[in-house]
Amino acid sequence: MKTIGIIGGGQLGRMLAMAAARLNFRTVVLEPQPDCPAAQVANDQIVAAYDDPRGLDELARLADLITYEFENVPVSAAEQLARSRPVFPPPKALEVAQDRLVEKRFINGCGIATAGFHPVDSQADLEAALAEFGGAGVLKTRRLGYDGKGQRVFRSAADDPAGAYVALGQVPLILESFVPFDREISVIAARAPDGTTACFDPAENVHRNGILHTSTVPPSVGGSTTEAARKAATTILDALGYVGVIGVEFFVLADGGVVANEIAPRVHNSGHWTEAACVVSQFEQHIRAIAGLPLGDPSRHSDCVMQNLVGDDIARVPDLLAERNVLLHLYGKAEARSGRKMGHFTRLL
Ligand SMILES: Nc1ncnc2c1ncn2[C@@H]1O[C@H](COP(=O)(O)OP(=O)(O)O)[C@@H](O)[C@H]1O
Ligand SMILES: [Mg+2]
Repeated sequence: MKTIGIIGGGQLGRMLAMAAARLNFRTVVLEPQPDCPAAQVANDQIVAAYDDPRGLDELARLADLITYEFENVPVSAAEQLARSRPVFPPPKALEVAQDRLVEKRFINGCGIATAGFHPVDSQADLEAALAEFGGAGVLKTRRLGYDGKGQRVFRSAADDPAGAYVALGQVPLILESFVPFDREISVIAARAPDGTTACFDPAENVHRNGILHTSTVPPSVGGSTTEAARKAATTILDALGYVGVIGVEFFVLADGGVVANEIAPRVHNSGHWTEAACVVSQFEQHIRAIAGLPLGDPSRHSDCVMQNLVGDDIARVPDLLAERNVLLHLYGKAEARSGRKMGHFTRLL
């Protein structure tokens, strides 16, 4: 039986490990936090930092191939592993996705529209960039942002940028033009080593406090919009020589046009609905792709809404269990801290 190494021990790693087990793969998780969500269902855990050379050596020794469940895996770690084991998605995808400036340039290089942007490395850069965008824009740290963290929105020239560069930590930033979107959608797509691709249907995403709240499928957008989003996702997969599942987030404009927001080189929260509404989930699709197995059929058999259970939402579990057509998935986290993703459910419609 082959063993898949998973870097990162959160809920995405947990769901990957469960999908891997169903296809007769063993899994070993590299994660510094003992008894993490993924390790609870994996065969083995290496308790070490993601860049600990001994932990990485151990992972390469135990695993036949290696993947990851979050995009901030140090590129050097992925490259070290890639010298002795297949690492999928390719480390190049990490390089692109880890830095919002590199990512936007890469996406534009694929011929796909993004928000306008300027690198910001000082308060003076910020003020110049804001002036170019008429005083509105979204300032983000180039690295390590997630769930809306490390961001500041300027809605108009009345929003005073004083102190913003310091407030975001004096790290490399990017100012994006403010995209007046109607909706947000995402595409979860997969690419196999032979270049075959498969896209799940786009989901329409609603965020609350910067955290994904619901993903609804099908989205309330026209066919030309979903087609453009699928095409953009496929173009990105091909450009990266990608193997595995990717998540690509888009803004949808009033005229139905799509603007790419960001890519996640991994399974994605907005694809959790696939475990309830498709025969092959995004998690199994990822395992199939990296293991060189045929990709599954991405078509859905049901319309659905996925909702995250964040913090105290966990109290809804007894009621959700009593509902028909609801698939509940909990992540094995002991403490329901505010803002923490504790689980999700998908309601088939
Ligand atoms: N340039 C932008 N214009 C308008 N809204 C934006 C822009 N960038 C981000 N947002 C809003 O903020 C949310 C989080 O930003 P995103 O870049 O996706 O960061 P994260 O990594 O936190 O998901 C987006 O889903 C969108 O709602
Ligand atoms: Mg996002």
